[in-house]
Amino acid sequence: MCGITGYIGKKEGLPIVFDNLRKLEYRGYDSAGVAFFNAVSSIKHQVLGPKVIKAVGKLDNLEKAIRGAKSQAATAAIAHTRWATHGIPNETNAHPHTDCKKEIFLVHNGIVENYRELKTDLTKHGHHFYSDTDTEVLAHLIEEFGPELALKKVVGAYALAVIFKKEPEKIFVARLGSPLVIGVGGGEYYVASDPTALAGLVKKVVYLKEGQRGWLSLSGMKIGPARPRLEPLEIDPEQSRRGNYKHFMMKEIAEGPEVLESAIRGRLSVRRNSVKLGGLESVTDQLKRIKRLEILACGTSYYASLIGKLLFEELADIPTEIAIASEYRYAKRPVSSQSAAIFVSQSGETADTLAALRKANNQGLLTLGIVNAVGSSIARETVAGVYNHAGPEIGVASTKAFISQLGVLSLMALHLSRQKLKLHKEIIKELRILPFKIESVIKNSGAIKTLAKKYLQYDNFLYLGRGYNYPAALEGALKIKEISYVHAEGYAGGEMKHGPIALIDKNFPTVALATQNRVYEKMISNLEEIKARSGPILAIATAGDKKMAKLADDVFYVPKTIEQLEPILNIVPLQLFAYYSGILRGYDVDKPRNLAKSVTVE
Ligand code: G6P
Repeated sequence: MCGITGYIGKKEGLPIVFDNLRKLEYRGYDSAGVAFFNAVSSIKHQVLGPKVIKAVGKLDNLEKAIRGAKSQAATAAIAHTRWATHGIPNETNAHPHTDCKKEIFLVHNGIVENYRELKTDLTKHGHHFYSDTDTEVLAHLIEEFGPELALKKVVGAYALAVIFKKEPEKIFVARLGSPLVIGVGGGEYYVASDPTALAGLVKKVVYLKEGQRGWLSLSGMKIGPARPRLEPLEIDPEQSRRGNYKHFMMKEIAEGPEVLESAIRGRLSVRRNSVKLGGLESVTDQLKRIKRLEILACGTSYYASLIGKLLFEELADIPTEIAIASEYRYAKRPVSSQSAAIFVSQSGETADTLAALRKANNQGLLTLGIVNAVGSSIARETVAGVYNHAGPEIGVASTKAFISQLGVLSLMALHLSRQKLKLHKEIIKELRILPFKIESVIKNSGAIKTLAKKYLQYDNFLYLGRGYNYPAALEGALKIKEISYVHAEGYAGGEMKHGPIALIDKNFPTVALATQNRVYEKMISNLEEIKARSGPILAIATAGDKKMAKLADDVFYVPKTIEQLEPILNIVPLQLFAYYSGILRGYDVDKPRNLAKSVTVE
């Protein structure tokens, strides 16, 4: 969502914080701003400023606005990309925000839940507010009480970077509920809300812990109350770039085979019919006693988790419940000491998933993570877990992370199984060859482009699937909604008769996941019903399926695989279909409107 960058070091801060902001563009934003000290007064030997420059819309607008501006070396600079929550996206509401005297300038991610009460109190004490934001309250609170006491009055979540007119060589930083990381190198400190912004700049970072706050200055770092821990920054800057692809989304779909390989690398043994997950070793004994699982996630990670539930129940024989994290966090549910809760999140920072995790931790559940972002909040606050190792995902709509999550969920289901079935061995073998099968689907993406052109005239779609392909249909529908702004509904084939069939006519096409598996014949019946009502059908089918060629208007063939792994393969044409539908409509597929990559507020 919003992005924070900051710098204090010997160099000129403005270009650094602006460049780093660019690396956070993928998170989604609608305005941006910077604050910096702009010149040395030769008469008084004082730095001037801070100067604030803001712009609405893309960072290109801010780039134009700062052209010609120069910041003073060895003074602090901060910057921010804002995604509007309180107040419309305009320059007034964009960060940095300041106090009445224009001496305190800050950028903030998160939410000040009690901002209305605070604003009323501060107004009574003579403070004047200029914006509609919750963030501005923080500047006035600091003006009134100083940073330490001010934060005690805040209910909500924050990642904060603050600069002060009177102390140009310092940045105050604080974290509660929203991530903040400090890059440390050679007497310089970089602040960022996401470590991606620090790739290639520093080798060591401090991930601020909950409640940690303090000062960064030319003479060092003073963070408390817990002592800051330096950790290596594990991000390859190459991986964050777009390479030869026009869009990150296409690059990331094409990385499907690679991310599946990374997810299974070193974790499978065909010979021993076993799976080794190093991240779960510390909880081996506890896992032996587990009788029930819960999975909590949001968005695409939630749809991957729905498939996870089927895998855990079929392969590991463990009853599994699944909930959307935003529902779970407020639900009253019976707790069992023999339950483990799994949190699935690409970013590891989704506010609702993190809140659900904290609730589960408080209830004493064994909490496990399936997380892509190394060192993220969910990765750190779960008791144990498995990393996806899929590399940074930049496209706002998740693609490669979904494939990776399905890979890891399959491994976890096999790992938790108390018996070794023939099916397990087959799945282990198939996971090895699946990357090549994904590759063959991607090679055929030209055919999907042609289909996307053909179906461009429709504004509504039904996505149908059964069994393991039902959640894949939900995810396929979500992709086209996100990228093409086309209405699509994912449905379980069996539910079609209970409503959606009323919509079927020649203007309402169905995208059917109809590969040859245990429910194939049932899908055929669904498709016949659709055909009888003149509904156009685009089917994803198993290579060589002649029946489907007759039944559907259009067919995209995928290689045969094991039913439990089918979604890993079947989702790829649906991702490509959404991608091309978006491109052909002229949309920015990497940054779809109104969406954010990482939703760090509720
Ligand atoms: C946002 C993103 C989605 C993502 C969801 C959950 O809505 O736009 O692509 O699936 O958050 O994110 P997480 O990082 O927890 O997987």
